[in-house]
Amino acid sequence: MNKFHEGSLIYPLNLSLNVIDMDRMTSFYTDSMGFEMLEKKEDFVELGVDGRRILTLVSPGDVVEKPPRRSGLYHFAILLPDRKYLGSLINHLRDNNVPLTGGADHEVSEALYLQDPEDNGIEVYADVTDSKWEWDGDQVQMGTDPLDFRSLMELGKDINWTGMPKGTRLGHMHLHVGDLEEAYRFYSLIGFKRVAQMAGSANFISTGGYHHHIGLNVWNGRGAKPAPENATGLRYYTLAAPDRETQEKILESLRDGNQKAEMKDGILHTQDPSGNRIQIIIA
Ligand SMILES: [Fe+2]
Repeated sequence: MNKFHEGSLIYPLNLSLNVIDMDRMTSFYTDSMGFEMLEKKEDFVELGVDGRRILTLVSPGDVVEKPPRRSGLYHFAILLPDRKYLGSLINHLRDNNVPLTGGADHEVSEALYLQDPEDNGIEVYADVTDSKWEWDGDQVQMGTDPLDFRSLMELGKDINWTGMPKGTRLGHMHLHVGDLEEAYRFYSLIGFKRVAQMAGSANFISTGGYHHHIGLNVWNGRGAKPAPENATGLRYYTLAAPDRETQEKILESLRDGNQKAEMKDGILHTQDPSGNRIQIIIA
């Protein structure tokens, strides 16, 4: 189900991470996670699914471990086209002794959580059909119930995991920010709307009625500052805009809202108030 990651919507498309140990990270993302290698250079690896870039690893040479309690990536979330693949991935990770950090049934989705070798958070999830999502006005109901590992693993038995299936996308980004309201004001300028929140500590925002394209939280502390530019973790993530007109409207809206934004070679570069860098491209 990809109707929330196409067409006229604004949605996350891919991300780029700063990496210390390129070989270890590359083998984790290809062998353990099942991404395709799209391009490989000494300090740069492009990974994706079915020829579509999802994750770029960059190792400029002077990368240092990110300090704790900073703004930045909480997790990026890979959306599988069907829950049977989630089951198959659980079986594959278990067979390869890759530890999970958790799993949850969020009512709108079923999700697995793990950390990569350089401590970046990863979620892999499958959406429940959107007709089953419960809305109260413009707010969607999301819970955190235990994941039904048994039924997923049973369902996944019929599929031999040979990598991320066709149709896999970057489903959402979840970021640590220093101030929720300030972050929400920024993302509103791009066109996102708040569709759920968690007692003053997290916001979930989307376009087109998705359960969330971006999560924002203050779990690393209110006022959390960005990590240094050469720290491990998020370099930037990319949002897709449908056309030039929308991209230019966003640029104008960000500038009117006194946010840093500039157009370079057809790409709109900006960053949220917590220093999470964003490229907005036409896709
Ligand atoms: Fe998430």
